[in-house]
Amino acid sequence: MNLPYVRHVNWGIVSFLLIYEEGNTVGMTNNNETVQQQLTALQDQAKTRREIEEAIIRQFAPEDEGLRYALTAGKEAGLPQIQISPIQGKFLQLLAAMCNARKILEIGSLAGYSGIWLARALPPGGRLITLEVSPEHANVVRNSFAKAGVSDRAEVRVGKALDLLPQMENEAPFDLVFIDADKPPYPQYLEWALRLTRPGSIIVADNCVRRAMAPHQSQDEGVSGIIEYNKRIASDPRLVSLALAMDDDYTDGFAIAVVKQ
Ligand code: SAH
Ligand code: DHB
Ligand code: MG
Repeated sequence: MNLPYVRHVNWGIVSFLLIYEEGNTVGMTNNNETVQQQLTALQDQAKTRREIEEAIIRQFAPEDEGLRYALTAGKEAGLPQIQISPIQGKFLQLLAAMCNARKILEIGSLAGYSGIWLARALPPGGRLITLEVSPEHANVVRNSFAKAGVSDRAEVRVGKALDLLPQMENEAPFDLVFIDADKPPYPQYLEWALRLTRPGSIIVADNCVRRAMAPHQSQDEGVSGIIEYNKRIASDPRLVSLALAMDDDYTDGFAIAVVKQ
């Protein structure tokens, strides 16, 4: 018979002993009071973070029927639930106000959720153009825009963004560009954003914190695209930029770049 085997597991500030017998885990020590206290403190912190976020959303970024419709319509059409958060939606509106946005370009529409936040930041006569590769997604977007009452100023164009962007030079400059489509071409989207904006414009990209800024994460083409995007905006002398953890419990967020005057 094999003797039990004890392994000391140390995950940062949490550590415990695992006891194995013949390859199976048969026990885990939890008699260490400080470990219990540390775990409780972490759980309390997580709960406080959630409560704070909920209170901020209630006060500053509540969703109305139009926004909720976009979420439901996307879900019912089987679209992935990967839209921005309400806090990010309100943050886009804040950025639009900061650059006096009258013309906004979005790359990656999904069900229209972020598009509604953006369109509602526009003054009368303003325009949002959002690019979407999937005709099915674009249909949902049109319904969402109608339901939210922004069809007069928001338009979805169907096609691959890299095919549509070269046709937009006569509609530039855009005051705000929001990049949130497929990740490998993020650096190319940045090149187009720089061509289609003016000094003072703001270029925002989603998902620039997630695996790109976390060490020891798996790398794929998408992560490489975002790493290169961050590298370029951080070092381009035409831009002042910051990646900001603000989503998914501060593990993801926007990268924001302002085109210098
Ligand atoms: N901005 C949306 C979420 C976008 S999800 C929101 O927050 O509500 C990403 C979207 O980009 C998907 O709908 C996907 O179909 C679209 N997409 C993926 N590749 C694309 C491409 N090459 N050109 C345009 N859209 C693309
Ligand atoms: C994914 C894409 C996104 O734009 C996002 O915000 C979250 C997830 C994805 O492709 O998994
Ligand atoms: Mg995203």
